[in-house]
Amino acid sequence: MPTEDGFFCPIFCLLVPHSTIKPYFYHMILVTGATGLVGSHLVLQLLENRQQVRAIYRSEKSLGKVKSLFQFYGKLPLFEQVQWVRADILDIPALELAFHHIEQVYHCAALISFDPADENALRKTNIEGTANVVNLSLAFGVKQLCYVSSIAALGDLKSYEAIIDETTEWNPEVEHSDYAISKYGAEMEVWRGWQEGLSVRIINPGVIIGPGFWDSGSGKLFSQIADGFSFYTKGITGWVGVKDVVKSLIQSMESEQNGQRYIVVAANQSYEIVLKLIAEALQVKIPNRYAKPWMTEIYWRLDKIISLLSGRKRTLSRITARTLHQEHHYDNAKIKSELGLEFRTIPDCILEAAQAFQKTT
Ligand SMILES: NC(=O)c1ccc[n+]([C@@H]2O[C@H](COP(=O)([O-])OP(=O)(O)OC[C@H]3O[C@@H](n4cnc5c(N)ncnc54)[C@H](OP(=O)(O)O)[C@@H]3O)[C@@H](O)[C@H]2O)c1
Repeated sequence: MPTEDGFFCPIFCLLVPHSTIKPYFYHMILVTGATGLVGSHLVLQLLENRQQVRAIYRSEKSLGKVKSLFQFYGKLPLFEQVQWVRADILDIPALELAFHHIEQVYHCAALISFDPADENALRKTNIEGTANVVNLSLAFGVKQLCYVSSIAALGDLKSYEAIIDETTEWNPEVEHSDYAISKYGAEMEVWRGWQEGLSVRIINPGVIIGPGFWDSGSGKLFSQIADGFSFYTKGITGWVGVKDVVKSLIQSMESEQNGQRYIVVAANQSYEIVLKLIAEALQVKIPNRYAKPWMTEIYWRLDKIISLLSGRKRTLSRITARTLHQEHHYDNAKIKSELGLEFRTIPDCILEAAQAFQKTT
């Protein structure tokens, strides 16, 4: 029978494979994407805040990455406190099991890819997967959903505007990457949930820097620069440390601000500067060959041909090649003023990640 703060459910525990079976409580938080950069750091912070966490995973290999990260932070015992549930966000029956008696959901799971061949997979995982999370949140009476979107899903500036903020409108006439379209579509699902009565928050982070996960996202930049990558471009985008993303997620969830979105960018910085800072922190050669726009135009075409002939994944798409030379500035004033968030500097975040890279690779 339910008690005031929770109850034990042996049947549910029998149904959940691979989870650390324990009594569970009403103040239970569900994290999707818990085996990724953001989700794993979020789970760790929630556990440190003494929250009850259930998290979904898809493979033992991914769980191993989370274990290594907890070990790196000297927090391995906390790993055992997570209720791990094996589920894919596209597998509704499996996902449904994870939603029993959940009060808050942090939806961090997504496919991140800029390979045009992944268009369908992006739409399916990011839009359909988010629709599943929203529908189950509504069906199970979840109190709050916090969705990790991206600056890629923000709007497009008009010719007389200079900085992108939360009110900048998406222009469907402007060319966007499949990833951006999928994150924008996912946001639409979250807003639909809001209209149907779900309390939601959306976080739009810039490129996220943090320890672990060296074969994807900004982690790959560390690996490539350590391996002697020597090119840079002069485009500008928004950057942020993973711990600040986690702070923004938790603070927005704890706030009363239902139906709000926040840009989570510590600084707008050029690729040239960020690559230089990473190389300095790793004490390796600084990328010193400027890849001019005409060079990246040739490169993406060659890359496409090689990919078609060999079947290997694309390393640079046409849209990404152009983005690398564009200047996008993001305004972080809203999260600073409404949630009081203060950001760590990008050089600090890079230094911390570089030290982790050197210790763990
Ligand atoms: N990294 C960045 O620079 C950045 C910037 C802005 C926004 N974001 C957003 O932040 C969120 C987290 O990104 P991240 O950097 O942590 O990504 P990540 O390291 O690639 O992790 C992605 C997570 O999503 C999970 N996932 C993917 N497809 C799934 C599916 N079908 N079912 C269940 N889980 C699935 C992955 O599980 P597996 O381990 O099993 O693959 C992994 O746990 C994403 O929504 C991303 O769009 C990231």
